[in-house]
Amino acid sequence: MADLAAPRAGHLGGHAPIEHIPSLPPLIGDYEERCRRFTWEGARAWLDPDPSGHVNMAHEAVDRHAAGPLAGVVAIRFLDRTGEATELTYAELRTRTNVTAAALRLLGLEPGDRVCTLLPRSPELYLTVLGTLKAGGVYCPLFPAFGPEPVRERLALGRIRVLVTDTLSYTRKIAPQRASLPDLEHVLIVDPDEAGAPTGTTPWSAALAAGWAAYDPETFTVAPTRPEDPALLHFTSGTTGKPKGAVHVHAAILAHHVTSEFALDLRPGDVYWCTADPGWVTGTSYGILGPLSCGVTIVTDAADFEARRWYRILHDEQVTVFYTAPTALRMLMRAGTALAREHTFPTLRHVVSVGEPLNPEAVLWGLEAFGLPVHDTWWQTETGAIMVSNYAGMPVRPGSMGRPVPGVVAAVLAQGADGRAAVVDGRVEVLTGPDEVGELALRPGWPSMFRAYLDDPDRYAKAFADGWYLTGDLASVDADGYWWFVGRADDVIKSAGHLIGPFEVESALMEHPAVAEAGVIGKPDPLAGEIVKAFVTLRVGYEPSPGLARELIAFGRHRLGSVAPREIAFDQALPHTRSGKVMRRLLKARELGLPEGDLSTVETAPAAATDEGATT
Ligand code: WT7
Repeated sequence: MADLAAPRAGHLGGHAPIEHIPSLPPLIGDYEERCRRFTWEGARAWLDPDPSGHVNMAHEAVDRHAAGPLAGVVAIRFLDRTGEATELTYAELRTRTNVTAAALRLLGLEPGDRVCTLLPRSPELYLTVLGTLKAGGVYCPLFPAFGPEPVRERLALGRIRVLVTDTLSYTRKIAPQRASLPDLEHVLIVDPDEAGAPTGTTPWSAALAAGWAAYDPETFTVAPTRPEDPALLHFTSGTTGKPKGAVHVHAAILAHHVTSEFALDLRPGDVYWCTADPGWVTGTSYGILGPLSCGVTIVTDAADFEARRWYRILHDEQVTVFYTAPTALRMLMRAGTALAREHTFPTLRHVVSVGEPLNPEAVLWGLEAFGLPVHDTWWQTETGAIMVSNYAGMPVRPGSMGRPVPGVVAAVLAQGADGRAAVVDGRVEVLTGPDEVGELALRPGWPSMFRAYLDDPDRYAKAFADGWYLTGDLASVDADGYWWFVGRADDVIKSAGHLIGPFEVESALMEHPAVAEAGVIGKPDPLAGEIVKAFVTLRVGYEPSPGLARELIAFGRHRLGSVAPREIAFDQALPHTRSGKVMRRLLKARELGLPEGDLSTVETAPAAATDEGATT
């Protein structure tokens, strides 16, 4: 099964001939030296706790700079869709986030209560993240391209008390389902029109004015959070069941900070642009917290991708460090090298990528377009921060993810029949040979490791074995210690850098009256890495037709938004396991024209006969 479970990154270019490209000069010593010197214990000295040992992420990211020489430096420069800029210095950001925290406190937010945003990249989003942390709340981002279904599910699972959003998103995605969200007490609307905010909501500006009136933003005290108090909740997708809520604690800021230095090479004076949507973990760890903790100037753009605009921003804003994703790089590549050459990037010194396999072509294209190789970084929602990277100062090996960053201990574990690490009597086997493929595992101990899956201790426990956190990815290490991504060990789909749980998509499709059952896979796509493809069994009385396929795509799109399937195939005999589960791996193997592997557990039965009794 392992070969089916682990499609190599081949469709994206696979392993390139071994080649090293020199990287920028290291910030402090070389790789080996940095690894040798680094300990989390030692790094902890960077934190700025209060006299009682309280640590708050927003204090570390903003207030400590606002109290020092960086107070007058621009912390965030917001570009709106028209290109108009608004800036906040570290001192201003401190005041504004204090006001936001005061507003939330006034609304009755208690320590540990959860606050969501459903917003594009706008000042209100950044203020909400930092304000929530300062108020002692837990911040949970929602991706603005999600449809009503994934939004409702995450608001309900997270028992979110406060949501900050805009009129359109509220009216379309929240209002119709508000009755089913009893925990959602307050909705703040950032763009009320002349008639005011929709019924049952509060204008953002009114909430802030109240906060301003009730507290003096200059003397406001940040919530005394302990290092192990929850700070962030990030939903991520698994192969079965509901989205998983990964919980991160305030101490995680130390990992955000250290990896922002090591892997992104950030330092005061940098102008940094991270193109990740703030609705995902990259958007908080490296769109907000890590870079601010390094005292850089963040540039953020509200508009969607447009190649010319991106080159112009890199040039005009004098960006020094650029963190983006393979899909975005492939879109730039598609727009042509000539367009890149129309621009110069004299300030740019480091280009970094995350989220999906970075094909060697993209690394080399970076050399052509920017004169810089693209540096890959690997991590996950659960790890909270970069774990493996081709980082500053270390020669880049195109196609490789790099090496574990200092403080991170990684291993490749021998696989069992299901593709995941084999656990025998509670023990795993660490593979030590070069190029041996197995599940990538990490030794817990770095501060941004997730501390729980919300309300799901069993699932959390299952993520660990024999003292390792099991990532669900397959990887190998070459003779020089460079790590290579091989594929996922499970059915989770990666589209344009975003994880998509097949179960969530299948469940939504099955709400359509024509659909008896659905099996969803990732289909290789030259731009997005993978797109979502659904195989659908129809109920009696429905016939396959292009019209019905279009209808199902539209249905999915309406419910799910950006995670909806882009292709539908009708299949009246979806393959099932003996326990009745659709065999997504087999669907994928067939789609890719790969050998179907060990079929001993397959029972190809029509949907009507999938209950346990009928199939065994
Ligand atoms: C999964 C995690 C990384 C933070 C944002 C996404 C895949 C991530 C790489 C990379 C190949 C990668 C893995 C991982 N992934 N980075 N450099 N090369 N694959 O976090 O949504 O939790 O996704 O993204 O499969 O497990 P996420």
